[in-house]
Amino acid sequence: MRTLVIIPTYDEAQNIAWIIGRVRAATPEVDVLVVDDASPDGTGRIADEIASEDHQVHVLHRTTKDGLGGAYLHGFSWGLERGYELLVEMDADGSHLPEQLHRLLEAAEGGADLTIGSRWVPGGEVENWPWYRKLISRGGTQYARVMLALPIHDATAGYRAYRATALEQLQLDLVASQGYCFQIDMTRRARAAGQHIVEVPITFVERVHGQSKMSSSIVREALWRVTGWGIRRRLGLGPARRERVAAPPGARPLSSRR
Ligand code: GDD
Ligand code: MN
Repeated sequence: MRTLVIIPTYDEAQNIAWIIGRVRAATPEVDVLVVDDASPDGTGRIADEIASEDHQVHVLHRTTKDGLGGAYLHGFSWGLERGYELLVEMDADGSHLPEQLHRLLEAAEGGADLTIGSRWVPGGEVENWPWYRKLISRGGTQYARVMLALPIHDATAGYRAYRATALEQLQLDLVASQGYCFQIDMTRRARAAGQHIVEVPITFVERVHGQSKMSSSIVREALWRVTGWGIRRRLGLGPARRERVAAPPGARPLSSRR
């Protein structure tokens, strides 16, 4: 499958060359798209230099820091327009090992619509995360499981592969999530569309250089959105008017009970 690895960046100058190099070495057949939100530290310039010497590396420049969700949506539409068959999400900071990308690619080749590189399935690991990050990650997934009836072990995971035909079903123009709850939002949409979701174990290694962009407002956004979706689901209401999706044949509505 023609594959594009999308790497969103904000202030990853110390990481970007390293991560692109590792992706290109581990899986030379895949292309890379960096989506940079005008990083003040010059990440976008470094990515441009790499792209000028490697025709399989591309860079999308956005004008403001607009959240992980916005960056990925932009990257997805860039990749879909160009006919990529598989679109991969990967962090720039080395937390998602390019050397494990083949695990996701194999699941996708095996027929998964959405493959999630999961920290919280047998064989999955987290290295060097403080206890409170583990708690937020496990708690967030648990909350999404209960509120949204999502049978997923790592709903906020950011290492993923989407089959293009599956992404096209999800009406991306209706996705409003900006922060890391974008991942939960995409998961519930894939599930509601009846897509085949597979979790494969990965090792998540906390970054060595630079800083996490995780913030209390990102946690708050996830909490209120998941709570809102969950309440609508429990009340048997359909999705809010602004996010009504035209369901493909045989799909369950987003609000349906299992
Ligand atoms: N373009 C762009 N715009 N990129 C962003 C933005 C943004 O507003 N915010 C974050 N990023 C990029 C970072 O530069 C990095 O490449 C990636 O998104 C992940 O950001 P981190 O700040 O390193 O995230 P984390 O390590 O705290 O969080 C990880 O765990 C979350 C919870 O499980 C990631 O794997 C997330 O994807 C995951 O949801
Ligand atoms: Mn990180």
